[in-house]
Amino acid sequence: MKTKIVGLLIALAMFLSACGSAVPTTIAPIETFVVPTATADADVYKDESQTVDARVDDLLARMTLEEKIGQMTQVEKDSIKPGDITKYFIGSILSGGGGSPSENTPAAWYEMVNGFQDEALATPLGIPLIYGVDAVHGHGNLLDATIFPHNIGLGAANDPELVCHIAKATAEEMLATGIPWNFSPVVAVIQDVRWGRTYEGFSENTDIVTSLGESYVRCTQTPQEGVEAPLGALATPKHFIGDGATAWGSSRANDYKIDQGDMQVDEATLRELLLPPYQAAVDAGAMSIMASFSSWNGTKMHAQKGLLTDLLKGELGFKGFIVSDWQAIDQIDPDYYKSVVTAINAGVDMNMVPYDYVKFIDTMKQAVAAGDIPQERLDDAVRRILLVKFELGLFEHPMPDVKYQETVRSEEHLALAREAVSKSLVLLTNQNETLPLDKNVGTILLSGSGADNIGMQTGGWTLQWQGVNGNNTEGTSIHEAIQQAVGANTKLIYDAEGLFKDQEGIRADIGIVVIGEEPYAEGVGDSDKLLLSFKDVDSVSKMREHANKVVVIVVSGRPVNLSGILPNTDAIVAAWCFGTEGAGVTDVLFGDKPFTGKLPYTWPRSANQLPLNSNNIGDRTGCEGPLFPFGYGLTYGEPSPEILECK
Ligand code: BGC
Ligand code: BGC
Repeated sequence: MKTKIVGLLIALAMFLSACGSAVPTTIAPIETFVVPTATADADVYKDESQTVDARVDDLLARMTLEEKIGQMTQVEKDSIKPGDITKYFIGSILSGGGGSPSENTPAAWYEMVNGFQDEALATPLGIPLIYGVDAVHGHGNLLDATIFPHNIGLGAANDPELVCHIAKATAEEMLATGIPWNFSPVVAVIQDVRWGRTYEGFSENTDIVTSLGESYVRCTQTPQEGVEAPLGALATPKHFIGDGATAWGSSRANDYKIDQGDMQVDEATLRELLLPPYQAAVDAGAMSIMASFSSWNGTKMHAQKGLLTDLLKGELGFKGFIVSDWQAIDQIDPDYYKSVVTAINAGVDMNMVPYDYVKFIDTMKQAVAAGDIPQERLDDAVRRILLVKFELGLFEHPMPDVKYQETVRSEEHLALAREAVSKSLVLLTNQNETLPLDKNVGTILLSGSGADNIGMQTGGWTLQWQGVNGNNTEGTSIHEAIQQAVGANTKLIYDAEGLFKDQEGIRADIGIVVIGEEPYAEGVGDSDKLLLSFKDVDSVSKMREHANKVVVIVVSGRPVNLSGILPNTDAIVAAWCFGTEGAGVTDVLFGDKPFTGKLPYTWPRSANQLPLNSNNIGDRTGCEGPLFPFGYGLTYGEPSPEILECK
């Protein structure tokens, strides 16, 4: 081996001098060139031509306990102290909701991630770290990114091909910022729309979630053109399992009501209703899955060995790593040592310990020394993490090509987002063929909290964890989109408050009111009433006084109670949290494109009917039943159904 390398070096030196390069002067004299055996072996894990398994084996065999524990540790980017990535061999860094660098541009993100990566590469073994982010509807933390409809809208569109394109585009905009790992998609089969994360899920229907989730995973991970690595980026189906199937009032977290609560179903239901999206994701090559904050029959999911290890890794054949949710292992037991031991032994591999990572690392060391966490479990966890890093090509390319920066808000991505908006809208009512609107109608009045509010139309997980109200990121509001769509002779009058003082006594042909929910995320959005604000209801009543026909666009993360506005409307459109591209709304409103979206969740008359869930698909009619059943959605030319007035 040694002679072979020396021979190669001689050949190299000769080649370089033949080229007239200055380099040979920097090459050590051949005789003094000692090639230690360790360096020769180092070629195995650094050698691209070796199999991934061989590289993992080789690397694992070189690692100290500290290096292994470091690989299992994921820290929030503002909490990691300078130098600590190298010192503790940290394996992963994340941005939480809103976790952008102070200058929120792709270049500044890239530089930030690169800085962390350099610290990881400065460790003796030079294992690259993996940076993760919630790009759950486009890269929402990045200012002026392309923001797509939240998953609820994609569930309404129910088009796996469309989801595939969105997953790819999102991966590109992440790679533009140096990030290969997306904590997405949510594949919860949501059983109660009072949950504050309803919009993050595709549907209450297992089949829809399964097919769209599979597409999202597969297409996130498809290798990028011209890059030779098995995985293009990393998707993360979440949250395993039952996050959307918990019981109202069972949450013990913060002042949440259902988020992070307890799922009270039997195993047969779990398998039939909630498991298929995970099986499909694993079959599609999912290599990271996030455990759920929630519990099953009183036991935290992060402590469920039967589900994490036996079911997911064993029965389903999941070969990747399980990442814990934000500080979720802390919730297992008041005793932190017990929490850590339980989580790791249950099957958690990568630990999202956003803040106190030193405490986690010390606890891990203690637990391994005491034999409470077996060496094999530790090695298994590290092996899974390394496998993913090799498959992502991080050892060859610790940072993605800067060329992706050109993709952020590219024409192509904007067109895709606009198409997705059009496909995600659901036409709920349309009396007397009010829609489509004529682009040359005389006067349109426009009002409502969501008419000129990109923050509301994008929803939670946009710029901030909870989202932001108002116009804070590039995009087209509904107001702007209408202005662009109508003919030169159409008068568009916008008044956010809906007072239209100058319109006294004059009635417009068309009034459009955009109302709905202000942004929220996670348990902060748990709501038992699903009521529209008084102001929103009032703006619809006011419009009735000023316009012959009233069209309401509901911008919301889930079905809301429409009883207060129904009598004052001619047409209602559910637009969900559709993202930055308002022109996708007007494309359909003015008839350039058809309505094709169908309700991915049953729409209740009032919160008294809740929960309405998969069990209610297709049954219950009249006042007992929902306002609109699952799968409902009108098309142009179809008569609007009669809406019963129910007490
Ligand atoms: C959420 C996850 C998210 C994580 C990181 C948690 O609170 O439950 O869905 O991936 O935070 O932001
Ligand atoms: C973070 C989120 C995280 C949440 C968990 C927030 O501060 O920004 O990413 O999901 O905390 O509670």
